[in-house]
Amino acid sequence: MKNIVLIGMMGCGKTTISQLLGEKLKREVIDIDQYLIEKHGCSISDMMSISEDHFRDLEQEACLELSKKEGVIISTGGGVIKRQENIDALKKNGIIIYLDRPIQNILTDIDTQSRPLLKDGPEKLYQLDKERRQLYMNACDIHIINDQSLEMIVNLIISKVG
Ligand code: S3P
Repeated sequence: MKNIVLIGMMGCGKTTISQLLGEKLKREVIDIDQYLIEKHGCSISDMMSISEDHFRDLEQEACLELSKKEGVIISTGGGVIKRQENIDALKKNGIIIYLDRPIQNILTDIDTQSRPLLKDGPEKLYQLDKERRQLYMNACDIHIINDQSLEMIVNLIISKVG
């Protein structure tokens, strides 16, 4: 059975929606950020504080490891699309879903101060969206606009992945 892999910007709903999908489909859910925190025993900010490249190396290693799983739901970090190797690995055994949530909606409920890449404020989110949108579009098998209720989005994903 193929994995279901959620990609998209910080705050687009990957973590919450992956949990709901896991409950409905009775499948294991793995959050790559959480996996890295447990594996390395430190926070994402700690990994980033060495350098972003260091964090991206650890993230890439995790993608390669987790892509060997079968039938699980994988919630990725927003920057997973920055390395094509990550997408190639995750695609081998996974259906990639881009959760595309309007940036103004993300800003209503994200705490920009607690996210290492957003410490310079909300404008950064618009900039990242501009840089990354095409990468998300190129990487995904299914593009979902997340501007409805969580339940509707979860049901929509289930109907698409069959
Ligand atoms: C990042 C998003 C974060 C985390 C790290 C980098 C990004 O994950 O992986 O801070 O580059 O967009 P979330 O998308 O789960 O917030």
